[in-house]
Amino acid sequence: MKVRPAKTNDAARCAEISPVRTAEELRRLLGQEDTQWLVLEDKGDVVGVGILHYWAWNQMAWIWDLTVDEGRRGHGYGQALLKGMLRAAKKTGARVMMDFGTPNPNACSLIQLLVNNGFRICGTNDRWFADHKNATAVFYGYDL
Ligand SMILES: CC(C)(COP(=O)(O)OP(=O)(O)OC[C@H]1O[C@@H](n2cnc3c(N)ncnc32)[C@H](O)[C@@H]1OP(=O)(O)O)[C@@H](O)C(=O)NCCC(=O)NCCS
Repeated sequence: MKVRPAKTNDAARCAEISPVRTAEELRRLLGQEDTQWLVLEDKGDVVGVGILHYWAWNQMAWIWDLTVDEGRRGHGYGQALLKGMLRAAKKTGARVMMDFGTPNPNACSLIQLLVNNGFRICGTNDRWFADHKNATAVFYGYDL
């Protein structure tokens, strides 16, 4: 099992795994300097997709995507992908990795994974979401 940088021909498989970006949008990320698109590979199969977006001014790495193929969940792939993303972010010089969710951490499998792996609540913002006027975003951070 290994986490490696994605290549152009991973786009179709990653778009199948995660609904967040189309294959075309993923391919475009390869030309974007502040973004890192990674895949988790096991025995030649791509089973997970991870995308990090870097903010230079405060050395922050944002999780743009972290998704494991639905049929392969519950076997440690999510944790392996997260660990690979943490290593990659540290290598670029980021000081913290961040994500956000809603106030109920149990509503989202990804936030559960983050909390189980040492992310802690580090802030809230009640003006974050455009489509849910009264919803509060909860921020989770991990010091690298
Ligand atoms: C969150 C997500 C990545 C987790 O992936 P996963 O492969 O199921 O994660 P893991 O298997 O590593 O961990 C899940 C659980 O399985 C357990 N597990 C089962 N078998 C395991 C094994 N062999 N090794 C390690 N952990 C194992 C883990 O302990 C963990 O349980 P815990 O949370 O109670 O500790 C996955 O559910 C997902 O893709 N969700 C959708 C995320 C999403 O919406 N992303 C897009 C927006 S950013």
